[in-house]
Amino acid sequence: MSFEQNKIDIAVIGATGVVGETIIELLAKSKIPINELYLLSSAKSIGRTVSFSNRQIYVEDLAEFDFSKVALALFAAGSEVAKKYCKKAIEKGCYVIDNSSAYRDDPKIPLIVPEVNSHKLEQIKVPSLIANPNCSTIQMCVALEPIYRLYGITRVTVSTYQSVSGTGRKAISELVSQTTSLLNGKIEAPKVYDKPIAFNAIPHIDDFLDNEYTKEEMKMFNETQKIFSDQEILVNATAVRVPTIFGHSESINVETKSPVDLEQLKKEYSKAKGVKLFKNTNYPTAMTDAVGKLDVFIGRIRKDITHQNAINLWVVADNVRKGGAWNTIQIAELLVSKIL
Ligand SMILES: NC(=O)c1ccc[n+]([C@@H]2O[C@H](COP(=O)([O-])OP(=O)(O)OC[C@H]3O[C@@H](n4cnc5c(N)ncnc54)[C@H](OP(=O)(O)O)[C@@H]3O)[C@@H](O)[C@H]2O)c1
Repeated sequence: MSFEQNKIDIAVIGATGVVGETIIELLAKSKIPINELYLLSSAKSIGRTVSFSNRQIYVEDLAEFDFSKVALALFAAGSEVAKKYCKKAIEKGCYVIDNSSAYRDDPKIPLIVPEVNSHKLEQIKVPSLIANPNCSTIQMCVALEPIYRLYGITRVTVSTYQSVSGTGRKAISELVSQTTSLLNGKIEAPKVYDKPIAFNAIPHIDDFLDNEYTKEEMKMFNETQKIFSDQEILVNATAVRVPTIFGHSESINVETKSPVDLEQLKKEYSKAKGVKLFKNTNYPTAMTDAVGKLDVFIGRIRKDITHQNAINLWVVADNVRKGGAWNTIQIAELLVSKIL
């Protein structure tokens, strides 16, 4: 059964991954009334257990799963898995939220950051797919929303400082192992990234494209336009991997249509949901403020001294939570309140 006494049956796909396990943790604390929870991964994880609300649930093989058992499927297992299984799940009557980039550019699929465009969920009437944006795009769009609404945005220049958890569990192991080796005087060959990540910074996230930007950088361009439904916002991104485990940081310069009133903007951030503002010389860092939290943290707001209609800001968030699992749960809560 998909629905049972106003409770819902849910599957988490990628339950043993960094995002999947956080979805499970946040589901336990969410407003969603759950009847059965199915945890799915690849065949190699069959028999593993994951804890949910003080009980242990066995992980099952995705390839053997019958999606007609659930009404909602939360995918966090990468693009290949999404392309193979999301549509099958929808055909079985399931609403799907996918964390991969497989369907984000499809104009028919809503791409949702609830603080910006939750109204797009109103169009959803039957089981269908919703895409969760890229982690760096999500936190940037939350920070851009009040600026866009009050002053309009023409151009954004952003440099990211992205933690290795953004690449999944294997990248966390690589950073820890390379760091340990280097501290013991040994050099370990990189496997996950092209260059060593320990004690380094790598300006290369996802594949290079013909225009010499990386896919990650172009995701920030294309997804921002889609989320704001505005093809005129230009996003000039440089995405950099840094040797931290959790939390992404971004240095953002925003050019606006009209001049920004900084005091008005700070007031707007102070009352915005999902945002914590650090004022004046105080500033947030990923490790001390964002990791383990659901909000987006903003500081270093200041006028760009080289441009009349531009400001600078520093934005940090937990990439696994607001950049993935929490954004998914926020969408799921809104969706479930419509369908139950
Ligand atoms: N990490 C982030 O900050 C972040 C943020 C937003 C979005 N995302 C996106 O979320 C997705 C998951 O990322 P992650 O960081 O959680 O990756 P991860 O730690 O590498 O976990 C991947 C998960 O997918 C499962 N999986 C892989 N191949 C599978 C298959 N053929 N069939 C069934 N399950 C399979 C794995 O199961 P096994 O353990 O059995 O292999 C594991 O549970 C990716 O699309 C990623 O781009 C990640």
